[in-house]
Amino acid sequence: MRKVQSIMRCQECGYTTTKWLGRCPDCGGWNTIAEEPVMEIKKGGASKDFIAAQDIGSVKNAGEKRLLTSIPELDGVLGGGIVEGSLVLLGGVPGIGKSTLLLQVSNNIASSEGKVLIVSGEESATQIKMRANRLGKLSSEQFILCETDFEYIENQVNEINPRILIIDSIQTMFCPDISSAPGSVSQVREFTGRLLRMAKKRGLSTFIVGHVTKDGSIAGPKILEHIVDTVLYFEGDTHCNYRIIRAVKNRFGSTNEIGIFEMASNGLKEVENPSALFLAERPVDEPGSAVVVTMEGSRPLLVELQSLTSTSYLNIPRRLCSGLDFNRVSLVLAVLEKKIGLHLERYDVYVNVTGGIRVVEPAADLGVALVVASSFRDKKVPADTVVFGEIGLAGEVRFVSQAERRITEAARLGFKRVILPAQDVDINEKDLDIEILRIKSIKEALEYVN
Ligand code: TYD
Ligand code: MG
Repeated sequence: MRKVQSIMRCQECGYTTTKWLGRCPDCGGWNTIAEEPVMEIKKGGASKDFIAAQDIGSVKNAGEKRLLTSIPELDGVLGGGIVEGSLVLLGGVPGIGKSTLLLQVSNNIASSEGKVLIVSGEESATQIKMRANRLGKLSSEQFILCETDFEYIENQVNEINPRILIIDSIQTMFCPDISSAPGSVSQVREFTGRLLRMAKKRGLSTFIVGHVTKDGSIAGPKILEHIVDTVLYFEGDTHCNYRIIRAVKNRFGSTNEIGIFEMASNGLKEVENPSALFLAERPVDEPGSAVVVTMEGSRPLLVELQSLTSTSYLNIPRRLCSGLDFNRVSLVLAVLEKKIGLHLERYDVYVNVTGGIRVVEPAADLGVALVVASSFRDKKVPADTVVFGEIGLAGEVRFVSQAERRITEAARLGFKRVILPAQDVDINEKDLDIEILRIKSIKEALEYVN
């Protein structure tokens, strides 16, 4: 008789069954049952060797060793390079550039630090070679394994002893002792668990590619987020050339940092001056456009906000925003109606951040208020002016952090005026050649829209 190697367990309540069910008979949860390998529990025998808990003072400080990818934008997002033995998940929609970036990382690491093993379940060795040639000088010390079975991968890791392992992609990989298909929740979770144990045991830094899909047919990277050390997501529109890498979890660094890249004909290139890039196509002297300064981690970014208000033919006028938090935009619109008397109730309102970037910081509120009012009144926000400030429900403009950095960046890009909350800033206006206009309320700010 075949030995049972896996069982089905409800992920919500722990109910177990031998066959898959769509609904858990115990807790009634839908789609909560997933396959799990059976762990052998030894009963009886010798008594356990218990381990005493350690006092924190006696725990040794480990010197964190980091490998540099020689791609400063990526090293920055990782918190200063790849930590030895860490597991990094790189998620994103298909075609955004995950394999390309990791091939660039592989080439750089192989030329400076040592061997790299690329495991691909999606592309053939020839395809990978063609892409690597396209990216520039090819470094030796890169090994390609087109396999998806964990045992084969482990064998080659033992054989080659690489500094870095790249798994492309997790959805194609499988553990042979679990019967469910590659890409299912149990395969993805078990495979990653084994990678984690291998990474920690050998001090092998591992990159895992995870495709994000809208329908749940294959398990997405979300279910691995708690297993891995670092989670990076590629953002951006595949139709547009900019790509942003954002850390959403990082056990070894901050999660605020982003890396900005541009997809070129020979791979991903770092963008040295992102603000200039985001403002490149800005219409000057048009109502409904303003530049805000937002902070992405420690980096100030200048982005353009646009708005259009047009007569609505619907019973409930349309409110659409892209790149902004819908709730915050609704709040700003409510304040404009109530405190400024801007009658938007018969108008459709569209608000957009250009360049495909997302701005979630409340400091963008003032910008939203000014662009909407600017479009509604058909008046301009001066083109040489940047704004930032959080708006409160009473129509007041509230302080924001890191004002100095924001102003300095605006001055560097040639802006002449900045509208900001009435807060102290340690800046010499003359040195920077920028005029600082402090305002207390949204009403005061609107005086500059004319
Ligand atoms: P890819 O890295 O294959 O995406 P993923 O692994 O996330 O699915 O990205 C491929 C896209 O990038 C593809 O549409 C072609 C384009 N590309 C370039 O524009 N320049 C290049 O140098 C390379 C290698 C790819
Ligand atoms: Mg790929």
